[in-house]
Amino acid sequence: MTSTERTEAFQIPIEAAEAYEAAFVPAFFAQWAPILCDAAGLGAGQKVLDVACGTGIVARTAAERVGPAHVTGVDLNQAMLTVARRVRADIDWRQGNAAAMPLADRSFDAVLCQMALMFFPDRVAALREMARVAAPNGTVAVLVPAGLDAQPAYGPFVDVAARHAGPQARSLLDTYFACGDLDDLTGWFGQAGLHVTAAGTRSGSARFPSVDALVTTEVESTPLGERITAEVYDRIKHGVREALAPFTAADGALEAPFTVHVVAGRR
Ligand SMILES: C[S@@+](CC[C@H](N)C(=O)[O-])C[C@H]1O[C@@H](n2cnc3c(N)ncnc32)[C@H](O)[C@@H]1O
Repeated sequence: MTSTERTEAFQIPIEAAEAYEAAFVPAFFAQWAPILCDAAGLGAGQKVLDVACGTGIVARTAAERVGPAHVTGVDLNQAMLTVARRVRADIDWRQGNAAAMPLADRSFDAVLCQMALMFFPDRVAALREMARVAAPNGTVAVLVPAGLDAQPAYGPFVDVAARHAGPQARSLLDTYFACGDLDDLTGWFGQAGLHVTAAGTRSGSARFPSVDALVTTEVESTPLGERITAEVYDRIKHGVREALAPFTAADGALEAPFTVHVVAGRR
């Protein structure tokens, strides 16, 4: 695939980007942005880049600390950027690939990347690209989900799905957790020429109106939904309802614990 084809293949409809901002940002993504900004030690007047910014929650959180004139967000996806621009017009939003950003060398004091490194085909190359645009002594800080063995709700969910749908279910559902080994993550920073200054693990949660909503969201965001029969899908839902009962409130709402790794490094 050429880079243009890759970019086109990655585009999503505007409705999906609006739904991401309306539902998933408040229920999941917003909680991590202050943690990532803290890890980077953001201060007033610093120039900040949000890599794979999506609809821009990290850029908006950073703008509260450094001022909007100092913040840039880059994402591959045009629809995500359209929503980012609608929500906050005073931030500089740009389309670009994390592997080759349309940005000058050494131009940001802090380069942040939340919940995206696992989607990049070459993670060390992406970190090297983040290091390239960071100023001398600038910081690169990354936040990713911890591995499935450290996820008290998602671990059992993927186990149930694999029990009913076979090993393909595990490999399709575990993409999100692919950067979950903290030693690997700090090793990649080193390979990208970054000196690790902080590395740790934090806990939060993923909120859903019901357990079925989690299963539907996770299964249908992968090709697994098209590969299993209605009966297998029902068995997965039933099994996950049982497995996640400890995290389910009386009204059926789910608050699934979620664990992340945060690593910061300097050039
Ligand atoms: C799960 S979202 C996270 C978005 C945002 N950082 C947040 O915390 O809400 C992942 C984002 O990565 C973007 N993305 C994936 N691959 C990319 C790449 N190679 N270059 C730039 N953005 C990419 C997607 O378009 C999507 O907006």
